[in-house]
Amino acid sequence: MERLGSLAIGLLAVFGISLSACNFYHEKHPKPALDLSQANLSYATVRAEIFSPQCISCHNSATAKGGVVLDSYESVKANLDKVNQAAVIGQTMPRSRPLAPEDRQLLSAWISAGAPKEGSSPNPPPPPLQPTFTSIRTLVFEAKCVSCHTTGESAEKVSLTDYSLLMNSPRDLVLPGNADESGLIIDLERTDEHQMPPPDSGLGRLSTLDIATIREWIVNGAKND
Ligand code: HEC
Ligand code: HEC
Repeated sequence: MERLGSLAIGLLAVFGISLSACNFYHEKHPKPALDLSQANLSYATVRAEIFSPQCISCHNSATAKGGVVLDSYESVKANLDKVNQAAVIGQTMPRSRPLAPEDRQLLSAWISAGAPKEGSSPNPPPPPLQPTFTSIRTLVFEAKCVSCHTTGESAEKVSLTDYSLLMNSPRDLVLPGNADESGLIIDLERTDEHQMPPPDSGLGRLSTLDIATIREWIVNGAKND
């Protein structure tokens, strides 16, 4: 699980970097610095993607090949120039084959950013909405609806966060397979005063993409996933 988590972070980081690499080539005066705002460039990321799986077997304090130890943040920091030279520029390390291009980009970006110990983005962007009940409940209902749709508030009779209450509502809020006639979709898409969230609530209409994702969940059978 931890491995998966760091892989996801790593992929995010690489994705962010490759995105900015595209901008890079479209710019008239390319800047060598990558836009790192989306990337979680931390020691934890490079350790999980690069140092642990690809270097530490030969560069821990017991093996210390070439006199170089890379098993802690401090030891990596102390050898940063050599690491840059061996793994990014000269590509002589790891011993058997050079780093994969995305790993090299990640390492290079991390070094250029000053080899930060913590991630560069303390508030990573929220994950995009998925067509699952859990994602919709967390990112939409709990974020934008429960202030009214809860006991003691104006819309307490309409429960959105409890799957079986939502599915069994006499108001036909969710008709599996039929997004067009599902009350939930109708109320999210309408533009009159019955729109949800209410126009005067200041909460703002859901994005077209979010509504499309909720539609997708309903069309796929509105499962409790
Ligand atoms: C299979 C063992 C092995 C692996 C894996 C390995 N190295 Fe090395 N490394 C060596 C050996 C052996 C040396 C000593 C120099 C040589 O023989 O090339 C060395 C030397 C180095 C040096 C010193 C080079 C210099 O010019 O002083 C650095 C820096 C280095 N490795 C970084 C890395 C990094 C970063 C990784 C992972 C991306 C890595 N190594 C993976 C075996 C390995
Ligand atoms: C500012 C308060 C408020 C917020 C925020 C709000 N609602 Fe409502 N909602 C209401 C009220 C009031 C009703 C009417 C309740 C009733 O009929 O008992 C209602 C009713 C509904 C209904 C049922 C309409 C029908 O057909 O009877 C749906 C579906 C709904 N809201 C969805 C949402 C969703 C989804 C969100 C968040 C994206 C949301 N609401 C946010 C106040 C709010």
